[in-house]
Amino acid sequence: MLVTLEGIDGSGKTTIISALQEAYPDAVYTLEPTDSWYGEAVRKSINTDDADPLSELFLYMADHAYHLQTTILPALSNKKLVISDRYIDSRYAYQSTSLDGIVEDPLSYIQKIHQPWTVLPELTLYFDLSPSLGAMRSGSTNKFEQLSFLERVHENYEKIISNDPGRFVRIDASLPPDKIAKIAIKTISNLL
Ligand code: TYD
Repeated sequence: MLVTLEGIDGSGKTTIISALQEAYPDAVYTLEPTDSWYGEAVRKSINTDDADPLSELFLYMADHAYHLQTTILPALSNKKLVISDRYIDSRYAYQSTSLDGIVEDPLSYIQKIHQPWTVLPELTLYFDLSPSLGAMRSGSTNKFEQLSFLERVHENYEKIISNDPGRFVRIDASLPPDKIAKIAIKTISNLL
């Protein structure tokens, strides 16, 4: 089963992973951008303020394709629980923000080009945080962590969730981390 964790920058997903690792030690924990050279290229692009947004989308997608082939699909075929810190919805939410005005209806465009080859998660935990808290917590150190950008990313996550409500469980990311972890663990165990 594939479970993904999503949210704007600063939503605290990474802190929750260590609690999940204790609760589900046999699960496969993974992330996007990956640690591969594809992921490195993506990180370079994140830290390049004037990176071309369309090129950036395809870098992220290359990393996703690599992630699927080398980690996600093999683990799923071994009947593992797979937990990914960010996955397709990050592209849907972030790149549809950066491609606004560059391609028509960026959200459906990005969804359309993933659809033939990606694998949808059974469950996505959405760590919901206000953009102002997200910008503050993340320190606004790169182009994605700016308040005005995160506001639009947050809106896009809402759109994605309302288009596919059955896949998402919303968790209030302003709660204390131990409470968030408990809710996340309970939500996953309900599904197993
Ligand atoms: P990440 O390493 O998860 O950052 P953090 O731990 O600060 O949340 O992700 C790096 C940044 O890349 C983050 O701002 C979200 C962005 N991102 C995209 O824009 N598109 C994507 O497809 C992914 C996976 C991440």
